[in-house]
Amino acid sequence: MNTHQFIPKILQKKTESLSCTWKTPSNIALVKYWGKTEPQIPKNASISFTLSNSHTITTIDFMSKGNSEANNNDINFEFFFEGKKKEDFKPKIAKFFERILEYCPYLTTYNMVIHSENSFPHSSGIASSASGMSAIAMCLMSLEKSLSSVELTDEFINKKGSFLARLGSGSASRSIEGPLVVWGNHPAIEGSSDLFGVLFPYKVHEVFNNYQDAILLVDKGEKQVSSTVGHDLMHNHPFATQRFQQANENLATISDILQQGDIDLFINLVESEALSLHAMMLTSSPYFILMKPNTLEIINAIWRFRKDTGSKLCFTLDAGANVHVLYPANESENVLQFIDNKLSMFCQKNHYICDVIGLGAVKL
Ligand code: DP6
Repeated sequence: MNTHQFIPKILQKKTESLSCTWKTPSNIALVKYWGKTEPQIPKNASISFTLSNSHTITTIDFMSKGNSEANNNDINFEFFFEGKKKEDFKPKIAKFFERILEYCPYLTTYNMVIHSENSFPHSSGIASSASGMSAIAMCLMSLEKSLSSVELTDEFINKKGSFLARLGSGSASRSIEGPLVVWGNHPAIEGSSDLFGVLFPYKVHEVFNNYQDAILLVDKGEKQVSSTVGHDLMHNHPFATQRFQQANENLATISDILQQGDIDLFINLVESEALSLHAMMLTSSPYFILMKPNTLEIINAIWRFRKDTGSKLCFTLDAGANVHVLYPANESENVLQFIDNKLSMFCQKNHYICDVIGLGAVKL
């Protein structure tokens, strides 16, 4: 695999200090990534809608190390989350920096102060690793751009940003661009790679323009089983081979569906993917369940509503109890009414977030 392209060759310029801020979104997978090998190589390709309102804003202040520190090769940083110093977030970020040092050797020559905040409520159960890691990755790319003596194109910045983000959290590789990103090498997707996410390269049917995602917050608590542990349990999983094959087949199928605009097939595939993901959890050893009773109440209510009204809404799940309700923009009024009347009662404090698909990372 060609990772050499990500090792900076010509870094001659000297930047004493730099402050940069990026806003990067979360994403919701339609075909799920679940199972990986070192170093963060997915067992199957995945595709997601990039979100818009659920995002992280991260500022990194880089200060060149003084003479006394210049010879120390430590990676020095402080991390603040929503204004408060957060020591418990540091180990994950430290591990990320160590992993990417080969590709960002300049990391040891700066002291860094990182300030991060999420648009979604803390502990909402929404995965923040995708938006969080991609925001840090893009800040590093801003530093690299300022150090590089050759002009870095936006295309390269996005590609390497996604490559770095992936090494922090797999799904973060899909949070740099939008509206649809594929991560993982797949014969049906031109240019796709295990190393970084790529924009879905074909023309998408207009029914998917401005697609909506209402995130129903069923459980805001800490997950009992982290994604990292869940991925690990796919090693020696009795259904792993079939699952990876199914996901890759689903990716080829959804590529056609997205181009042709067949929304009934879309609903079928997306819901099946969500349940297949959770089926892997139910059949892992040890087994575990991340859905809650209210997750099932919501799924059943969605099926009833679809049958009764002919609506084209559908659900998907990530590694948790919350339900993402996906629907076409022209159904917004009816679906939001349905959510208020029939679904919000299953959410903690009746809380849900209205999101819409978006275009990815933005430098502020
Ligand atoms: C169920 O990207 O959170 O959301 O690479 O270990 O950080 P790590 O895992 P992560 O896994 C996401 C799993 C998922 C499906 C998906 O987003 O494709």
